[in-house]
Amino acid sequence: MKFGVIGAGQMGAGIAQVAAVAGFDVVLRDVEQRFIDRGMAGIEKSLEKFVEKDKLGADAKTVALARIQTTTSLEAFADCDLVVEAILEDQSIKTALFTELGRIVKTTGILASNTSSIPITALATASGRPAQFIGMHFMNPVPLMTLVEVIRGHLTSDATTNLILETAAKMGKTAIQCNDFPGFVSNRILMPMLNEAIQCVMEGVATPEAIDQIMKLGMNHPMGPLTLADFIGLDTCLAIMEVLHHGLGDDKYRPSPLLRKMVQAGLLGKKSGRGFYNYEKQ
Ligand SMILES: NC(=O)c1ccc[n+]([C@@H]2O[C@H](COP(=O)([O-])OP(=O)(O)OC[C@H]3O[C@@H](n4cnc5c(N)ncnc54)[C@H](O)[C@@H]3O)[C@@H](O)[C@H]2O)c1
Repeated sequence: MKFGVIGAGQMGAGIAQVAAVAGFDVVLRDVEQRFIDRGMAGIEKSLEKFVEKDKLGADAKTVALARIQTTTSLEAFADCDLVVEAILEDQSIKTALFTELGRIVKTTGILASNTSSIPITALATASGRPAQFIGMHFMNPVPLMTLVEVIRGHLTSDATTNLILETAAKMGKTAIQCNDFPGFVSNRILMPMLNEAIQCVMEGVATPEAIDQIMKLGMNHPMGPLTLADFIGLDTCLAIMEVLHHGLGDDKYRPSPLLRKMVQAGLLGKKSGRGFYNYEKQ
């Protein structure tokens, strides 16, 4: 099976890596060569860690890297059997991409989105092949997290769903199905908690460090909510809260004004070097 991945950011690079290790031929695209280079460097570094921990042979690393073909062109996806999109969380940009992919990818090809919250059914309509469209929501970091949330659009066929369940299993993941509602299951439940933690910072309830420690030690969470928000990317968190707010029409999903302000200031978390914590090398 030929496996396409669009977007070589934190998620796309991880998906390409896991697909290549699972034995698929992968085509990975980003809009500029420098983003591809950054993504490939991340993949190489991550594979090296698996080698160091004896979880992957050095040969298997070389073979996996050789299976990833990179491109800045969309035409390279024409003969893909499955294309997973992992570009930024913006409905109009994803819609335009899927309209083009629907024209380019062979008619038997399946299209999937790794979106955290954007309606699968709307993207499926834009693609012009709603029966062969599905949500394939990997978790971050993809090489380590076992869950794939599989979201069926309103018209997704059983054949498409079955192929995605099989593919996820071949990638060593556990796929769990849900239906297409704003935020699906994972982010409908997770994101309001992160947003509330940000609201607590804004209101001076406690420092970010104290909030994270209270949730780690008190709730047995592996990571505090503000550390997790930084890790996901504050721009992605804001985009998801906007989808929940608009999609469910309830003000309980209102994005925290502090979250909005931090995104406006370019404080996006780990990927920009600063969010609730500072990641810049001192
Ligand atoms: N960050 C997370 O924890 C997480 C978890 C699950 C799902 N997601 C979802 O995955 C998607 C990607 O998130 P991310 O964290 O990897 O973002 P990111 O900002 O790290 O990467 C996005 C990449 O997409 C590229 N891009 C933008 N437009 C493109 C196009 N038209 N064609 C090809 N590449 C394009 C950008 O250059 C960038 O490299 C989003 O939909 C996000 O909601 C994120």
